[in-house]
Amino acid sequence: MDNKNRNIPVHVSIIMDGNGRWAKARGQQRVYGHAAGIESVRAVTEAAVEEGVEYLSLYAFSEENWNRPESEVSTLMDLMMDAMKKELPTLMDNGVRFVVLGNRKRLSDRLNEGIDFLMEKTSGCERMTMIVFLSYSGKWDICQAASRAAAQLGPEGMANLTQEQFGQYLVTAGIPDPDLLIRTSGEERISNYLLWQCAYTEFYFSPVLWPDFRKEEFREALRAYSERDRRYGKVK
Ligand code: IPE
Ligand code: IPE
Ligand code: MG
Repeated sequence: MDNKNRNIPVHVSIIMDGNGRWAKARGQQRVYGHAAGIESVRAVTEAAVEEGVEYLSLYAFSEENWNRPESEVSTLMDLMMDAMKKELPTLMDNGVRFVVLGNRKRLSDRLNEGIDFLMEKTSGCERMTMIVFLSYSGKWDICQAASRAAAQLGPEGMANLTQEQFGQYLVTAGIPDPDLLIRTSGEERISNYLLWQCAYTEFYFSPVLWPDFRKEEFREALRAYSERDRRYGKVK
């Protein structure tokens, strides 16, 4: 069966939550949970490729997460750097294009160089696009889009601004809006994620903590999505 008949979402997005609680339950430091969470990223990416998802986006670090203790922030950035170094061959083998979106000005030069290297190396991969949202927040995105749009279009252009035009200034320009948003760990909130882009997204909340969320849990979310009836405000 092709993807349309199986009702596979084109774009799946995930708020990967619960690493700290997972570690705490094991009597470990929070960072232990973040390291375990990387295994889930690997497994879910593989499952998404297998299922024919075209875009997999992951909320890895919010603008608000900069307010966590310095040691946790720096470990998260180091884990990110390590994972990028290790995963290049797997991404290439699976045809995965790697993209980072967010307020990259706040990232270190070293991390930005690593990101550019991986994005460049995988730019020709066409099977799936993996987007990692790093130092991202929905309000930040809308604000930066408004500033750039105003600078480019001027007062008259802004007065006649369309939704389609505005979307071109968001960091997600050219990427279809998420069809399905998964949040793990039992929290049922958006935490300043893709505010504009989730206008008609289907939400799926799982009680499973992110380090325990693997292929089977991901497939269950896709199954639940396949039964949703998306009406977009119309009558069916
Ligand atoms: C998600 O896990 C990872 C990030 C936000 C970086 P948390 O670190 O938020 O884990 P909990 O929610 O405290 O359990
Ligand atoms: C949301 O998780 C951000 C990411 C998963 C990167 P948080 O753990 O930061 O969200 P809150 O604080 O519980 O809303
Ligand atoms: Mg959390």
